[in-house]
Amino acid sequence: MIYKLFYSNENSRSKKRFGFGGDDDEDSPFALNKPVIWIVGLAVLSFALFITSITFIALYARQKTDSSSQPKWPDASFSPYGRYAKAGVAADNIYCSEIGRNILLQGGNAIDAAIAALFCIGVHDCHSAGLGGGHYMTIYNATTKECIAIDARQTAPLAATRDMYKNDPDGSTLGWRAVSVPGEIHGYWTEFTNFGSGKVSWAQLVQPTIDILVKGYLMLTLIPPYHLTPLRPTSIKFIG
Ligand SMILES: *[C@@H]1O[C@H](CO)[C@@H](O)[C@H](O)[C@H]1NC(C)=O
Repeated sequence: MIYKLFYSNENSRSKKRFGFGGDDDEDSPFALNKPVIWIVGLAVLSFALFITSITFIALYARQKTDSSSQPKWPDASFSPYGRYAKAGVAADNIYCSEIGRNILLQGGNAIDAAIAALFCIGVHDCHSAGLGGGHYMTIYNATTKECIAIDARQTAPLAATRDMYKNDPDGSTLGWRAVSVPGEIHGYWTEFTNFGSGKVSWAQLVQPTIDILVKGYLMLTLIPPYHLTPLRPTSIKFIG
């Protein structure tokens, strides 16, 4: 697909109107002289920097305060070369990694371990994963050098139509009309039955996450707007 980019000359006109460059600045009734523009610009920039710094300091301080009440997370096993004698799994957090690692130790293969870790991730990182949504997995088989992709993304309900949001643009993201058919659990099951080792049961993959839910777990609360704090939770609460 080739995209062509078009620029209207709206920009150059408005630049002139506000006195940024152009030879005929002085003719315009709205022309400002350049030093004023620079001073105003610098002031706005400094103010923006100031606000940003304050925001980040506040968020950081808040996280520091809250971290005293956090339960301790297990330490990650350390290997400077990333080599492990028996099994290793890297998931989003240590609990989910351990769950995956344990499945390998019980005789499961990488697919079994991934599914067990993913059940856990659906609980720990429920803002971005979980059984109510969609899923895909790519599996590389080192023996056959083949790659298999499983697409289990959400699908539209049967009664959905192409123009159902035509007069209701928000309907595609808000409310019951935005809901699609979840595919995640179907994807896990497809992967388990077709590519799992057959040495561990489905129950073994799900049980560790059920245990987490029964015991309680660390829940990360991200304060909107989410893009400001994508990696660092601003508060951590122990639910359970
Ligand atoms: C990878 O391919 C080999 C050879 O066909 C097969 O025995 C093995 O089960 C495959 N692994 C997975 C995870 O499907």
